[in-house]
Amino acid sequence: MSKNGDATTVAQLIRARAGAEPVKLGLILGSGLGHLAGAVDGVVIPYADLPGFPHAGVSGHNPNLVIGTLEGVRVAVFGAREHYYENGNPHAMRLPLEVLRELGADSLIVTNAAGSLRADIRPGDLMLLSDHINFSGLNPLIGERTDARFVPMGDAHDSGIRAALQASAVAEGVPLPEGVYAWYSGPSFETPAEIRAIRILGGDAVGMSTVPEVILARFLGLKVAAVSTITNMAAGLSDEKISHEHTKAMAPLGAAKLERVLRHFLRHLR
Ligand code: HPA
Repeated sequence: MSKNGDATTVAQLIRARAGAEPVKLGLILGSGLGHLAGAVDGVVIPYADLPGFPHAGVSGHNPNLVIGTLEGVRVAVFGAREHYYENGNPHAMRLPLEVLRELGADSLIVTNAAGSLRADIRPGDLMLLSDHINFSGLNPLIGERTDARFVPMGDAHDSGIRAALQASAVAEGVPLPEGVYAWYSGPSFETPAEIRAIRILGGDAVGMSTVPEVILARFLGLKVAAVSTITNMAAGLSDEKISHEHTKAMAPLGAAKLERVLRHFLRHLR
C-alpha cells in the first residue's frame, strides 16, 4: 500500500519532465485501447521511471504514462493497469491514482475490455457502466486505517460525467447503452454456469478490472466513470472461443468509437 509521500515525490518527478500545468482528467486504457495514448500531444514517461508504479506485464497494454493535451484538455493517460490477477494485489493502482490527484485532476475515466451478457450488446459495441458488482470479494481499501475507508458507493459512477458521455455519444452517432459491470478476478475466464449466475444477479458485462480503480477513485475524491469495449459474448452465450488473443483482436473495433466519444467529451468539457 502506498503512502501519500510517495505520490508527492512521483508527482514532482512527473512535473519536472512534463511541466507543472495541472492535469484536469485521468484516463486508464484497457486491453487493446493503447493507441489512444499515441493521440495525446505530450510527454511519454515509462512506468519503469516512476517508483512504485506497476510493472504491468499483460500483453496488449502499454506501460507508459502520457501527460499532455488531448482536444485542448490537459490529461494523464495511463497506458496500462495492474490487474489483481497479476500479483494478487487489489490496491496496485492506488499510487498511480494518488499521483493523478496530486497532479490536480478531479476526474477519471476508466476503460476496459469486457464480455457481454446481453443479446443487445454485441462484440464491437460500447457499454457505459451505470454501476458495478464486485464478485471478487476483494477490496483495494482493505488495510487502509483511516475512517476514509468507509467509502459510500451509492453514486460511484458519476452521473454528470455519464450524462456528458451520453451526449457525446449521441453527437457522434455511437450507441452507448448503460449496464452493470461484474468484476471477476480472472485470469481464467468465467464458466457458463458463472455467467448464468451473474446474469440472474444483475450483471450485463463481465471483466477482470476497473472495479478496484473505481473504488480507489472514490476514496481519493475523484469523480469517475467507466466504459467497456465489448470484445465477446460471455462464456456459454455464443460459439465463439474466448481467449486473450481474441480480446486483443476485437478491442480495436470498439476503440475507434470510444475515441470519437472521448474526443467529443473532452472538447466540450468545462
Ligand atoms: N470475461 C472476463 N473478462 C473479459 C472478457 C470476458 O468474457 N472479455 C474481455 N475481458
